[in-house]
Amino acid sequence: MRCLLIYFTGTFNTRYVSQQLKKRLESVGYEVDLYEIDPLNTEHLDLSGYDLIGLGYPIYGYNAPWPFLKFIRKQKFPKGIRTFIYKNSGETEKVNDASSLFVWRKLKRSKALIENEYHFMMPYNIHFRFDERLVKEILDMDEKLYDILIYEITHHIPNIKRYKLWHRIVTRAVSIQFVGGDVNSFFYKTDMEKCTGCGLCIRQCPMHNIRKDETGTIRFDHHCLMCMRCSFFCPTNAIHIGILQGWRVNGQYNFKAIREMTLDEPVITPDTQGFFRCYVDTYAYINNRHNELFGQ
Ligand SMILES: Cc1cc2nc3c(=O)[nH]c(=O)nc-3n(C[C@H](O)[C@H](O)[C@H](O)COP(=O)(O)O)c2cc1C
Ligand code: SF4
Ligand code: SF4
Repeated sequence: MRCLLIYFTGTFNTRYVSQQLKKRLESVGYEVDLYEIDPLNTEHLDLSGYDLIGLGYPIYGYNAPWPFLKFIRKQKFPKGIRTFIYKNSGETEKVNDASSLFVWRKLKRSKALIENEYHFMMPYNIHFRFDERLVKEILDMDEKLYDILIYEITHHIPNIKRYKLWHRIVTRAVSIQFVGGDVNSFFYKTDMEKCTGCGLCIRQCPMHNIRKDETGTIRFDHHCLMCMRCSFFCPTNAIHIGILQGWRVNGQYNFKAIREMTLDEPVITPDTQGFFRCYVDTYAYINNRHNELFGQ
């Protein structure tokens, strides 16, 4: 059985999820290829040799990122091919589920079979930095979700998310990313007192939107998709991200080291309130479903 995982990633969280998924699918006998979308190269893939296609993306403003949508729209899905969606984001509010609306539409039009959809928790790359203890806990919880995904997909058990009308409306209303990045990039700038001129941001920008001018100053053009890769990975935290500056998160999460941590007590509990309240229901769902399938 051959599986292709097609995904878009900004700061590599979705790459991490895709790699975990690949390992899991291989452990049950699939031969798995990974395809990371390059926003500047919307090529046409030959999908005919695959039995299963996974579509992965990070949620951006309650939507799928535009490079992902553009790429998916361009593909010809063989009629009847089995597909599934795996998305990830920093919070699991139900409104995020409607982010797959356009993907669904495309798959249905192609008469592809779409029966499974999973929402993984990954730390924010914008807004605020997650505490490492919470990252450890959500990565552990995601491990259970991989178990569920693998079981349901290999046993042909559908698992579909339902969206309410107001979720769809919110998704539509906040699809600012389609123009927001280009507009905001007028306000991107680099603190040249901090910048070492290492060129990492230039090499890594998926839009080739960053350059050094003749004076050595880092400049931004206006084809930004707000992926945060430049500012997130800048080793000296020198990039100012325009109107989103107050939400800048800098510095990679070290998932390998975080996974090895031990937690003395849970971070999210049934009494958790406020921003992370949404995790209480998500944890409950994952734990219950995992217990149903695999026991305590
Ligand atoms: C422009 C932008 C918008 C985002 N919007 C949301 C959002 O609406 N909800 C959410 O939970 N996370 C949101 N996030 C956080 C990402 O979904 C999350 O950190 C994800 O794991 C990043 O994946 P990546 O590293 O593959 O790009 C947003 C991130 C960016 C850069
Ligand atoms: S990654 Fe940061 S330090 Fe390196 S060139 Fe870009 S702005 Fe300067
Ligand atoms: S300029 Fe920065 S945020 Fe914009 S596309 Fe390039 S790496 Fe992403």
